[in-house]
Amino acid sequence: MSKNTLMGWVDKRFPATKMFKEHMSEYYAPKNLNFWYFFGVFSMIVLVNQLLTGIWLTMFYEPSADGAFDAVQYIMYDVEYGAILRYLHSTGASAFFVVVYLHMFRGLMYGSYKPPRELVWIIGMFIYLVLMAEAFFGYLLPWGQMSYWGAQVIFNLASAIPVYGADLLDWVRGDFLISGATLNRYFALHVVALPVILLGLVVAHIIALHEVGSNNPDGVEIKANKDENGIPRDGIPFHPYYSVHDLQGIVLFLFVFIAVTFFFPDGGGYFLEKPNFEPANGLKTPEHIAPVWYFTPFYAILRAVPDKLLGVVAMGGAIACLFLLPWLDRSPVKSMRYKGFLSKVGLTVFCVCFVILGFCGVKSPDAYFLPGLTWKITGQICTVLYFLWFITMPFISKAEKTTTPPTRLTVSH
Ligand code: HEM
Repeated sequence: MSKNTLMGWVDKRFPATKMFKEHMSEYYAPKNLNFWYFFGVFSMIVLVNQLLTGIWLTMFYEPSADGAFDAVQYIMYDVEYGAILRYLHSTGASAFFVVVYLHMFRGLMYGSYKPPRELVWIIGMFIYLVLMAEAFFGYLLPWGQMSYWGAQVIFNLASAIPVYGADLLDWVRGDFLISGATLNRYFALHVVALPVILLGLVVAHIIALHEVGSNNPDGVEIKANKDENGIPRDGIPFHPYYSVHDLQGIVLFLFVFIAVTFFFPDGGGYFLEKPNFEPANGLKTPEHIAPVWYFTPFYAILRAVPDKLLGVVAMGGAIACLFLLPWLDRSPVKSMRYKGFLSKVGLTVFCVCFVILGFCGVKSPDAYFLPGLTWKITGQICTVLYFLWFITMPFISKAEKTTTPPTRLTVSH
C-alpha cells in the first residue's frame, strides 16, 4: 500500500483498500458459477434504479388524497422525461420481483439455504418481506382505483383477527376509512423507512454471504480445499473475473429492461393495472380487484381457503414455510443435481403450482381453467401441493438415495 498517495492517505483513516480486497479482489468465488448467479447482481442493479428514480419522482409527487393522482399525471405529461422516470420505477418494481424470484429459485435448486448459508437465506427472506411491503405501499401512491381498492382488500384482512381486528384495522389505515391520512403514512414508509431497512438488509445479506462464501451448482464447499497460501483451489478472485463477467450480464439485462420500459411499460395490464389509470373513488368498486402479478400466488392461497381467518393464516404460512427451509431439507447433498428423483419432482411440482397460483390470483374463481375445472378448485389443489412440498421435504430428503457430488469443481462449457 503506497503511503504518499491519496489512497494511502484514505487507507490510514478508513479501510477502503482492505474492504476492496476482502469483498472484491481477494474474495474467492467458486469457478463454476453459472447463469443463475446473475440474478443477485441484477437485483442490486434494480435496487439502485428504484432508489434513483424514486428520489426523482418524490421531487414532483404530492402525498395527498386531492393531489396524488394529479401529481402523477403532471409527472407523466409535464415533467421533462417524467413518463420515462415513472415507467422506469413502475417497470422496475416488476423487474425486481422477476429477478428476485429467479434468484430464490436458484437457491432452491442448489440448496443455497443449507448450512452454512442459513442466515444468508433468512436475511434474503426478510428482504423479500420488506420488498413486498415496499411494493404494496408504492402501489397506493398513484391513488388510482386499484391503489384504493387493492389496499381496501388487504387492509380488511386485519379485521379477520379475533378481538383486536377492528382496532388493528383503524390503526393500519390511520383513519376510519382509507383516506389522505393513510396515503401520508404509507408515503413516509415507502420513501424513507422501508428503503433504509432494505439497504441495511442487502448489506447484511452480502456480509453474511462473504463470511461463509458462495455456494455453486455442484454444492461443493470450496473452503474445504485450500492451497498452502490459504486460497481455495477451486476459487477465482471475484474481481476482475466475476466483476467483468457480471458486467456483460448487466448490459444484456439493461437492454431487456429498457426495451420493456419503453415499449411495454404497463406489461399488458400486469405491471400497471387498467383501473389504476382512473382516480381513486371510494364510491365505485372496480369490477375485478386483483393485486399486481407478484402478489397473486399468495392472494390465490388466501382465496383458496373459505374461512377468512384461516385464509390469512394460510397466506402467512405460505411465506413462513420458506423461512424454515434450511431445517426442512435434511438431504446430505445441497444441489438438485445430486438429489434423488422425488426431490426433483417435488421442486418441479412446487414451482409449477406457484406459477399456476399466480394465474389463479387474477382469474375469476368461477371461470374455467380447463373443462370441468374452475380456477377456484385449481387454486385449492395447488395450495395443497404447495404445502405438501414443505411437509414431505424432511422425510423425502432424509430417505431418498442421492448420488455423490464431486470433491473438486470442473467448469462445463
Ligand atoms: C434486493 C434483493 C436482493 C439482492 C440485491 C441480493 C443480492 C445477492 C447477491 C449479489 C448475491 C451473490 C450473487 C449471487 O449468488 O447471485 C446473493 C446471494 C444469495 N442470495 Fe440474495 N439478494 C436479494 C434477495 C434475496 C432473497 C429474497 C433471497 C431468498 C430468500 C436471497 C437468497 C440468497 C442466497 C441463498 C444467496 C447465496 C447463493 C449461493 O451462494 O448459491 N437473496 N444475493
